[in-house]
Amino acid sequence: MTMRSMAQVCGLVLMSMMSVPEAVLAQGAPAFGADGALARPADYREWVFLTTGLGMTYGPAKDVNPNPMFDNVFVTPAAYRAFMQTGAWPDKTMFILEVREAQKNVSINNGGHTQGKIVAVEAAVKDSARFPGGWGYFTFDGPTGLTGKAAALPQTATCYRCHSANTAVENTFVQFYPTLMEVATARGTVKKTYDPKRKVE
Ligand code: HEC
Repeated sequence: MTMRSMAQVCGLVLMSMMSVPEAVLAQGAPAFGADGALARPADYREWVFLTTGLGMTYGPAKDVNPNPMFDNVFVTPAAYRAFMQTGAWPDKTMFILEVREAQKNVSINNGGHTQGKIVAVEAAVKDSARFPGGWGYFTFDGPTGLTGKAAALPQTATCYRCHSANTAVENTFVQFYPTLMEVATARGTVKKTYDPKRKVE
């Protein structure tokens, strides 16, 4: 093999090595239609998984749900990588919150809970040009199941207030995403207003 073709092969190998992460990074960029509605991403289960919460409630303890549900949080890969370096979310970050039923006694299981069918799918997108306050919230719950797209919920929806008042980093609940909380603490991006002892009033 001549030096030149060797260099070409090396170049190709390098390009193919680089194109894998590029493809992963492009995954999950929010797709808005001409009507401004967000398309429900089909591949969010290939994004980066952040946490599972079980039966999370925020009001008085007596309101605890006797049938707790699981919620799974996923974030777009490019946003995750940026956060690991900076402790902040870049524009076009998208999260999915997937809520699933908790089931008992399935298959060999005698105790504990496993995850059942989807109850709800919600999204949050950071887009400073599109949303006042930088973040938009969406629910894909329709009368007959999940919808293919959703308009941003109005600013009066409860999502906006809880996500701006009670979150550790920007509008996101990084206090519940253990690996990310370490990064935010190290990078100094935890909000001054975040108080781990405060409850929702
Ligand atoms: C009373 C507070 C509260 C309200 C209201 C609320 N959320 Fe959340 N949300 C949370 C908490 C707490 C988490 C963290 C879940 C976990 O740790 O499993 C979360 C997580 C999320 C996430 C994952 C990304 C993130 O921001 O951390 C999305 C997406 C989300 N919520 C969407 C919504 C939408 C859409 C609405 C309105 C329809 C809404 N939420 C209303 C408390 C709230």
